[in-house]
Amino acid sequence: MILALPAGAMVVLIGASGAGKSTFAARHFASTEILSSDAMRATVADDAADQTATEAAFDLLHTALGLRLARRRLTVVDATNLEPWARARLLAAARRHQRPAMAIVFDLPLELCLERNRLRGDRLVPEAALRRQHGRMRASLSALPDEGFEPIWVFSSPEAVEAARPERGLG
Ligand code: CTP
Ligand code: MG
Repeated sequence: MILALPAGAMVVLIGASGAGKSTFAARHFASTEILSSDAMRATVADDAADQTATEAAFDLLHTALGLRLARRRLTVVDATNLEPWARARLLAAARRHQRPAMAIVFDLPLELCLERNRLRGDRLVPEAALRRQHGRMRASLSALPDEGFEPIWVFSSPEAVEAARPERGLG
């Protein structure tokens, strides 16, 4: 699947922990193009897992996002983005700067996310929390068409993630 990315688009990754959002972002985008909530937590608290730093981390993420969109720089938002209100804040930023808002949903099996989470050395998410996240990802699939993202790409298998080819300057 070709993912056509116009100049200065905002690309929002949506998925449970362990879905492979950061892995996908690192594979296809420059580190400067990726705004990650974990990296922002680390910036403010020296710890990507420090949940007390979440509000500050998102303030920083949104500041950077606004500054980048104003300059028409392609920007990938790497957070779980599972809550409609979190996505609404991102959509408002794109609208303010009149930039395209695109979504990529990692609709991968819960078992795969749990397995990757278990194998992970850092930032182990409690299984119950991951199950809740997965449910919110599924709920997002039905909510998204009315929110304002265009297009909404859905990866329904690890193979679909592997086959995706972002292409700049299209669309
Ligand atoms: N992983 C993998 N194969 C993939 C994608 C990811 O083995 N195709 C592994 C990664 O190496 C990592 C784990 O699965 O150990 C989670 O991947 P990550 O990209 O970090 O997932 P995120 O969706 O970014 O999770 P989080 O929301 O917790 O940041
Ligand atoms: Mg990640």
